[in-house]
Amino acid sequence: MAKLKIGVLGTGGIATERHIPAFKHVKEAEITAVMDVNEERAREVAEKFGVKNVCKSLDEMLEKVDALLITTPNKFHAPAAVQALNAGIHVMCEKPMALNTKECEEMVDAAEKAGKTLLIAYHYRFMKEARAAKRIIDSGEIGQPLVIRIKAMRRRKVPGWGVFTNRDLQGGGALIDYGCHLLDLAMWLTGNPKPYEVSGTTFNHLSMQKDIVNEWGTINPATFEVEDHATAFIRLENGAVVMLETSWAANIPHDEETISISGTEGGIEVFPLRVNKSQHGVLINSDISWIPEEKPFAILQAEHFVSCCLGESSPLTSPRESMFVSSIIDSVYESAKIGRSVQIKR
Ligand SMILES: NC(=O)c1ccc[n+]([C@@H]2O[C@H](COP(=O)([O-])OP(=O)(O)OC[C@H]3O[C@@H](n4cnc5c(N)ncnc54)[C@H](O)[C@@H]3O)[C@@H](O)[C@H]2O)c1
Repeated sequence: MAKLKIGVLGTGGIATERHIPAFKHVKEAEITAVMDVNEERAREVAEKFGVKNVCKSLDEMLEKVDALLITTPNKFHAPAAVQALNAGIHVMCEKPMALNTKECEEMVDAAEKAGKTLLIAYHYRFMKEARAAKRIIDSGEIGQPLVIRIKAMRRRKVPGWGVFTNRDLQGGGALIDYGCHLLDLAMWLTGNPKPYEVSGTTFNHLSMQKDIVNEWGTINPATFEVEDHATAFIRLENGAVVMLETSWAANIPHDEETISISGTEGGIEVFPLRVNKSQHGVLINSDISWIPEEKPFAILQAEHFVSCCLGESSPLTSPRESMFVSSIIDSVYESAKIGRSVQIKR
């Protein structure tokens, strides 16, 4: 059977460090084309990974492939995805889905009209801890989730490279770039409960200081346009709440990345995976000593995308769920801007 031909738009860090190597493990697919506004970079990447075609435009690439991987800055996700889907090409797109909900809607419409796969690379869902947590929660082990705490916290790791601090190109900072992963995962784990009210705050104080001590490169306050820290309190229609905190730069003792869910029958923490319950009249904490890992998450995600394109699966991360995450992010930003809570649309 002929291999699924995949084109890569944007041959920067995530394309070369994660996706292109991952797709090399998928025998039903081959990366056959690359395109980058920096053509020299695209040529180097093509040579390094043995990709046959270096294209000069997205139009040219869409003529040559069956599927497109979008790994550009966020601003180009929606226009490229819509163009590809309208041309009948499947799309896997890096997170966040797009700059805002309106752009996500255009992507969802295009995918539904074309009947093609649209998978947003919220790769945390493919991590072994996340998949095990999903099985535990779906079994009813912790009962009904009541309080969902999300922490996606870095002490001093503002990305000092690329365009991550440019509002026009990225749409925001720590929340849309990093917090989005844990928010997506928490909503998936708890069955995508519908939020109705969001109260959010954003900060940029540390990154606006001159000569901030930062582990991930030098930050220029003059070009720092986004938030480096965000918090949100999200009320859900099923009576549960989400407490979210995410940061690239916080004065905390160490980085912290976890989801902790307290339910009616027990609780669960996802990173590292732990379950707590009361049983037989005592309080028990279960540390999970081993979680089977079939394959690394990036390979599982690449295989899943190809299997969706071949009609064998439907996206684990549905486009509507990814749009839903973007709508919560929009609401946090809106609430932070106006200084009070906002009602959320779905
Ligand atoms: N899932 C994750 O954990 C994760 C991690 C890092 C980045 N990302 C996402 O991946 C995307 C890219 O991030 P990165 O770290 O690879 O950035 P990067 O800056 O390293 O690479 C982006 C590449 O896109 C190219 N580019 C810019 N505009 C383009 C256009 N219009 N058409 C074609 N190419 C274009 C740039 O020249 C560059 O080579 C972003 O959306 C980011 O949020 C996800």
